[in-house]
Amino acid sequence: VVTATIVARSVHGIEWIAADEIATGLPGAGDLALARREITFTVPEVDERLLGLRTVDDVFLSVGRVTDVGSTKAALAPLAAQVTGLDWGTALAAVRALRALPRLPRFDVVASIEGRRSFNRYAVENTVGAALAPVLSAAHLARTNEGRPAGEPDLTVRVFLRGEEAGLALRLGDAPLHRRAYKLDTGPGTLHPPLAAALVRLAAPAGLLLDPCCGDGTIPIEAALANPEFPAIGADLDPARLAGARRNADRAGVNIQLVRADAGAPPWRPHQVDALVSNPPWGLAVDPAGRLAGSLRDFWRSVPELLDTTGRGYLIVDDETDRPAVDLAALLRVRLAGRVSQVLACTPPGQPAPALSAGLARWRRRAIAAGVVTEDGF
Ligand SMILES: C[S@@+](CC[C@H](N)C(=O)[O-])C[C@H]1O[C@@H](n2cnc3c(N)ncnc32)[C@H](O)[C@@H]1O
Repeated sequence: VVTATIVARSVHGIEWIAADEIATGLPGAGDLALARREITFTVPEVDERLLGLRTVDDVFLSVGRVTDVGSTKAALAPLAAQVTGLDWGTALAAVRALRALPRLPRFDVVASIEGRRSFNRYAVENTVGAALAPVLSAAHLARTNEGRPAGEPDLTVRVFLRGEEAGLALRLGDAPLHRRAYKLDTGPGTLHPPLAAALVRLAAPAGLLLDPCCGDGTIPIEAALANPEFPAIGADLDPARLAGARRNADRAGVNIQLVRADAGAPPWRPHQVDALVSNPPWGLAVDPAGRLAGSLRDFWRSVPELLDTTGRGYLIVDDETDRPAVDLAALLRVRLAGRVSQVLACTPPGQPAPALSAGLARWRRRAIAAGVVTEDGF
């Protein structure tokens, strides 16, 4: 049986949530291995379900690896020569089976480098790109001193250089998976969609999901896409953000309820909510307004009260946000755009900390055993 090796990239901290989505969403996925920001696995066949993964940032088809890569500039030409010898024809055919490519596709090369070198990633990208153009029958969008070339590539080649090895991979989609086609209206402090999808996966709604500070609607939209059978409500104090959320939801083709409300005095009766998922304003990108101006105290008080007896809340807060008086379990940390945030889990008063699904708990243990994350984050 011919299998393909897939490399999925994720935000650091949620690798195990992505692994759970891959293991349950892609029957036939095997040999799943977790590393920092990366989940590698095999599939019997490359198909469009790979492009439907919601908690990963991006997904690539592994083309192969080359060894004995040196650390000086003299290593670049031999590296490029080895790269051209890999089986690009089979990889290109797999991508063409997923989506249409123009007759003369345009491609870019994106390299990441671990370990000391006397060359930078741009030197790798331009050398490998120039060598691969005839092999791929594609035009290389070379990076110049002016920066990135204009226009979007049809193909992206990824070079992961670690020590003396380089892994080569081809992006399956025409854009990174984290870039959602629906999300054209965005405001300050908007949430990275795969992280929103990961929080929704943790909360596993089996009833009403509420985000009382929904901004552009990322969380309720991701919830409705993942669990169309359950209602999702987004609320916010800012009418402009709510209007943007409505346009995003329409483009996503989901039917969510959007309400103008103050999260410090929520208009919902207690115990109505099965899953409360939110990133409240931290005072960094967005200032808390209304009843939350000055302190998130009323938010932290209202969250547990809104939850049904079996409900649970997952809240993402900056490491420096004012800490709630209520006892919330710190479940994980994420690193995003250089900042570290925490995900806190909560249950209604008197209930123990929420349990993870068996699958999530197993992947979390594996990620901890692999040294990718720790009990409280990383
Ligand atoms: C960090 S942003 C949320 C971003 C959102 N998750 C997204 O993906 O766009 C915080 C949001 O809280 C809203 N906000 C501030 N004070 C509020 C209040 N008292 N009640 C409800 N929303 C409030 C802001 O308008 C902003 O949209």
